[in-house]
Amino acid sequence: PVQNVIELQNNKYESDDYFNLTPKILSYLDMNLHLKKHHPLSIMRQRIVNFFYKEYANPKGTPLFSVFDRLSPIVSVNQNFESLLIPKDHPSRAKSDCYYINRGYMLRAHCTAHQVELLRSGLDNFLVVGDVYRRDEIDATHFPVFHQVDAVRIVHNDKLFKNNPDLEIFEKNFSENVNTSSEMVGSSEKCIDQVKQPCHTVESVKLMEYEMKNTLERLVMSLFGNQLKYRWVDAYFPFTQPSWELEIYYNDKWFEILGCGIMRNEILSRAGIHNSIGYAFGLGLERLAMIIYNIPDIRLFWSQDSGFINQFNEDELNKNFKYKPISQYPQCANDISFWLPSELNFETFSLNDVYDVVRSVGGDIVEQVSLLDKFTHPKTGKNSLTFRIVYRHMERTLTQEEANDLHDAISKELIEKYNIKIR
Ligand code: PHE
Repeated sequence: PVQNVIELQNNKYESDDYFNLTPKILSYLDMNLHLKKHHPLSIMRQRIVNFFYKEYANPKGTPLFSVFDRLSPIVSVNQNFESLLIPKDHPSRAKSDCYYINRGYMLRAHCTAHQVELLRSGLDNFLVVGDVYRRDEIDATHFPVFHQVDAVRIVHNDKLFKNNPDLEIFEKNFSENVNTSSEMVGSSEKCIDQVKQPCHTVESVKLMEYEMKNTLERLVMSLFGNQLKYRWVDAYFPFTQPSWELEIYYNDKWFEILGCGIMRNEILSRAGIHNSIGYAFGLGLERLAMIIYNIPDIRLFWSQDSGFINQFNEDELNKNFKYKPISQYPQCANDISFWLPSELNFETFSLNDVYDVVRSVGGDIVEQVSLLDKFTHPKTGKNSLTFRIVYRHMERTLTQEEANDLHDAISKELIEKYNIKIR
């Protein structure tokens, strides 16, 4: 029946009794906040990617890690669960927790869903950044869409033990026969060995564990500063063993910010990767940004209000500052264009002089000032600047008339102080 076919991102899917997408959720599908200019999630993405580019480079400086940040969030149930050894009856698969298109397809619930396909394509060091979907309540700290960075790093036996040729990744009695049975799932959570998988030697696991934890510790210190207090907590994931979570201390509380571990060898051998060991992790971007910038509500990431976006600046990627709450009341935007005095040009006229006048006359009611346009008249050679000033009151709705009055006062002050001519 035609009404059961749904088209998403140019593909057609036949829905069945598992279908539970809502129009609201579908409206988030192509938003790609993690790629949006000046967005705090995009800034987080770039800081993490840059860290890995620097951390792992060949002698010529070429990054070892490949980055995938545009993979479609529509994945098969196999990618999201089976390929990662997540048991058929695992609670995370529940219809009440995931967004299903039908019994075979869903919106990815974690970026780990792409791990196996990327391993199969021959990659050994990669990052996946994207939006993930989990059914959840909506409040200041919960939202059904959030963003993750996932990573995989694989090291071959010859590299890992370059300086210790008598050591091996695998135990002597272990033979890597590929188990292709789809029934093969994670070990039971209750009797998990938190030191290592049976196939691995202690030496190989400890080396990888050290490299992973050390890298992640330095990553979070590069984000939060060296004073950061953190701790490792034992964890469980069906696709890694042993597994940990990293928690950081902020505002008198511990926050879990990432999950990680030594990759299950079944996943590697099924993907055709032999005599190697790997680590993987997944971290949430919203949590990081909320802590770094003191953003009080996760819903703000979806805000179209320029008062939000304009506080974040790509040009100062590594600057940590505290986000200033935006007002609930509407904005008024007025533009101002003026000619510079003829003896001045764009180099000799200081934009900061304009910003200072706007701030001193407009006070807290000025939310943003931005340079819209620079223009040199082709005949007269005169130079003109256009600024947009956004006005907004913190406690009440500002009338356009009040905004105009302020705007006029600013013009007047600029004329008096800097001898400019309003266009
Ligand atoms: N996918 C896990 C999550 O979303 C995080 C994770 C990734 C853990 C990779 C271990 C390895 O919570």
